[in-house]
Amino acid sequence: MNNKLIGGFFVAVAAFILMPASAWTQQTAPKPPLDLIQWNDGKLIYGVDYYPEHWDESQWAKDAEMMQAAGINFVRLAEFAWVKLETAEGRFDFAWLDRALKVLNGHGIRAVLGTPTASPPAWLMAKYPDIAATNEEGIRYRYGSRRNYCLHNPNFIAATRRIVTAMAEHYKNHPGVIGWQIDNELGDPPCYDAVCQAAFQKWCKAKYPSLEALNQAWGTIFWGHTYGAWSEIPLPWNTLFQVHSPSLALDYHRFFSDASRDYLKFQADILRAMTPDKSITHNEMGMFDQVDYSQMNTAIDFVSFDNYPMFNKDYASYFQAGLALDLMRGSKANQNFLIMEEQAGMPGWKSYWAGNAPVALYRVWAYQALAHGADGICYFRWRTSRYGTEQYWHGILDQDSYPNPRYATVARMGQEMPQVTAALRGSKVVSAVGLLVSPDSRWAFHIQPLVKNFDYDRQLRLYYAAFRRARMNVDVLFPSSDFSAYKIIVAPSLFVVDKALAAKLVTFVQEGGTLVLSYRSGVKDAHNVVTQQTLPGPFAELAGAAIHEYDPQVDQEQTVVGPGYSRFPAQVWFDVLEPTTAQVLATYGKGSYAGKAAATANTYGNGTVIYVGTESPSPVFYERLAARAAQAAKLRLAETLPEGVELAVRENGDKKIIFLLNYTENAHEVSLDQDYQNVLTGKTEPQKVVLGPFEVRVLTNPPPQGP
Ligand code: GAL
Repeated sequence: MNNKLIGGFFVAVAAFILMPASAWTQQTAPKPPLDLIQWNDGKLIYGVDYYPEHWDESQWAKDAEMMQAAGINFVRLAEFAWVKLETAEGRFDFAWLDRALKVLNGHGIRAVLGTPTASPPAWLMAKYPDIAATNEEGIRYRYGSRRNYCLHNPNFIAATRRIVTAMAEHYKNHPGVIGWQIDNELGDPPCYDAVCQAAFQKWCKAKYPSLEALNQAWGTIFWGHTYGAWSEIPLPWNTLFQVHSPSLALDYHRFFSDASRDYLKFQADILRAMTPDKSITHNEMGMFDQVDYSQMNTAIDFVSFDNYPMFNKDYASYFQAGLALDLMRGSKANQNFLIMEEQAGMPGWKSYWAGNAPVALYRVWAYQALAHGADGICYFRWRTSRYGTEQYWHGILDQDSYPNPRYATVARMGQEMPQVTAALRGSKVVSAVGLLVSPDSRWAFHIQPLVKNFDYDRQLRLYYAAFRRARMNVDVLFPSSDFSAYKIIVAPSLFVVDKALAAKLVTFVQEGGTLVLSYRSGVKDAHNVVTQQTLPGPFAELAGAAIHEYDPQVDQEQTVVGPGYSRFPAQVWFDVLEPTTAQVLATYGKGSYAGKAAATANTYGNGTVIYVGTESPSPVFYERLAARAAQAAKLRLAETLPEGVELAVRENGDKKIIFLLNYTENAHEVSLDQDYQNVLTGKTEPQKVVLGPFEVRVLTNPPPQGP
């Protein structure tokens, strides 16, 4: 090749590398909100994650029989079976999956197929070792595990296109395949190789009008890190003291999240173009925060969630599980979603991660998911594996296939599905309270975690639980959500705020909304740069208070007096508030700023802003704040539920579907506002409901009485 040709070749390769994956594919748009029950032929999805490739073919028919007997009507298949579907480069074998589908479909079970890209075959990684991601230290991962690839690697993109296209071509007319799950739990690992660095530089170039503008926005003059060429921009890889510019690091988080979305969209575009009558989803991880699900889910038709409530060891873990469910629903405009992996047994990889739960609790968790807007439950997994990393991760059956108590529990719920389906069809979760999750703030706190005991998500849980204990549904909002339907928005530690979000919140309050902010709100602009305004920056006027003094607390405990004239412990951070127009709700109880404001309430436009300058471990503190916010918003909070009991509601016009869930081994009594009809028995329930241990009660308004 002469020099010109060589030059041209490199330009072409560079252009190929830097082109977003989706640019090579026909652009498509997700379907309008999908009715998942209708999609599954009028049945609420009740399924299992099944791995026929792990078992002798002679077992398949018996498995399908047992599934059908338990009311199972859905399976997810093949999401780790790349090596069995493409046995060598370009050589495909779908015969085994066709046979498995035939057996399952023959028992009334329909399937979603996983595109198997989360686990690239050994032959692929051996031929193209550069597919493996590179860690912060610059070391390329060697073959093993899963999700070990670089999202920008051209060899991986080409291999993805090949397997996804082949699967779409083979199954496009298959009536027993109703949709696709793309990959598996996208979101890591971030990669720090040269291809990703070039892609990041390209991303920056598209975002900032000039290098000068980037230098300005990031404040690169600090330590003289000013860049003279786009190619000088590093990744936040391992460096001395592990410190990078917070602005660069935040943009890298955004870049990686966008790359995950682009990879999802790349696959979705292929599938949608070739199989337009099938629907597309991705299975996600609830509170996982390395990606912004609200951005990512613009690529798919509906959200799926892998629901493992057993991981929640925190206080009142059913609230933690509920929050994750609500976040998943909120990540795609509050549309109903699917549980693609529901906990069906003990978790474990190298060791057991939790003890066994009382078997009845698995049913309570599955009902909790329905209560929070899931229109289907698919259990992970049908049978515990004999092989590999997940031998300790229990499915419904154990390796011996004995119909054990977990199977009996699943089958019991399977028998209940027809009544539940009839009650839930067309219903949604409707909430007056929104909890704003800011991906930018979460990332910024990862980059600079304030103090050692700071935890953004803990605050989400504390506020969330206070409203839920008072029987309020809560929606999770993202900055791009529509705020107009809410009476109260709680935005804890809203640290990174762009102008658009600040303006949206001002409008929300002006129009009569109640906004609850907590410490460290309004501190940084969209570039993770500290504001020059008096804190809380863009919210100072709204809050009617100024902060000229704050106290990060690593070890010291404070007390706050009020709200409601009690004394509460306080910790983590103390903003000392100076009201300008606000009323004081609580003051600090100790030290040099004793008597100064710790929480305030301000009237602004037609609305109210409550600013909470600290954090308390006391749930009662948050109950008082919730009551104060409800009072401002003219909402009536109901009688607090007993510890261990949840009440959640779905609505369909005037019809309410009320779920009462008892997570404890003790009976509890709950008083309701009227008599309701029991969905499972058809009987009228008295207003005072007694819930037995681990009991679930699904209630609905009684049919209208005659004139
Ligand atoms: C999920 C994953 C499954 C399985 C399960 C148990 O996160 O999607 O493939 O690995 O965990 O470990």
